[in-house]
Amino acid sequence: MKSTNHILDIALEISDQAAELIRLSSQKIKSFKSKGEVSNLVTQTDIEVDKLIAGKIKESFPEHNVVSEELGSKNLSSEYTWYIDPIDGTNNFVHNYPSFAVSIGVYLRSKPIVGVVYDIPNNEKFFALKDGGSFSNDSKISVSNKDRFSEGLYVTGFIPYDENYIEKNLQVIKNINLNSHGVRRLGAASLDMCHVAKGIVEGFWEYNLQPWDTAAGNIIVTEAGGTVSNENGSQYNFDKCIVVSNNKVHKDFLKIINES
Ligand code: IPD
Ligand code: CA
Ligand code: CA
Repeated sequence: MKSTNHILDIALEISDQAAELIRLSSQKIKSFKSKGEVSNLVTQTDIEVDKLIAGKIKESFPEHNVVSEELGSKNLSSEYTWYIDPIDGTNNFVHNYPSFAVSIGVYLRSKPIVGVVYDIPNNEKFFALKDGGSFSNDSKISVSNKDRFSEGLYVTGFIPYDENYIEKNLQVIKNINLNSHGVRRLGAASLDMCHVAKGIVEGFWEYNLQPWDTAAGNIIVTEAGGTVSNENGSQYNFDKCIVVSNNKVHKDFLKIINES
């Protein structure tokens, strides 16, 4: 078995190189294409960064599987799988709205072991290692201690074009807004999860996310003492709905989502 520490070191190194490429591209005019729906965007930088990350993984771990947003899957029947979102928050990147990140999550036998989420505009690198804790740059982070759902701040995201979930999510947003300190929507799911890990919001939920959106955030949250589940409260396994919290408000959070 590869040392998990070594995998983390390589993931951190790769995230630095990816961040550098994104920073350089940020200074240029960003042309984008739509991947179908009007708000589903991709830029040349997404593709270049994805290629860079996939190439670096191949250099260090040629036998590992890679699943990435822009390049698809490379299944080599390894026990290790890297989930890559080269830019989580592409629409923010295009608009210079300061919430986008590189997200790299590594799983061993379907369980997260390493996560790195690099918030580029804010120069904040979140990372976690199985049984090793969660960090923001060099400081250990942990979820908040708030135990009253009503005193929490919450964050969500939504795909504006998914008719199946938009009505449901609008109802959840309304009910949480009426029963808490409020709901935010920043546009980068990996960072929303890190904000729960860091204790600046109590919970995050979203429908329809993909493995590359959540793989890194998952371990960053759980190593910081939080909970990641589906809407039934079972362990999250890339389900349709993700519910993330500081653990203390989780029961009430699930209740309000399910009753909306
Ligand atoms: C998106 C972001 C957004 C979430 C969307 C994702 P992308 O990822 O994470 O916050 O609401 O569902 O698709 O497309 O910018 O990588
Ligand atoms: Ca994403
Ligand atoms: Ca992306």
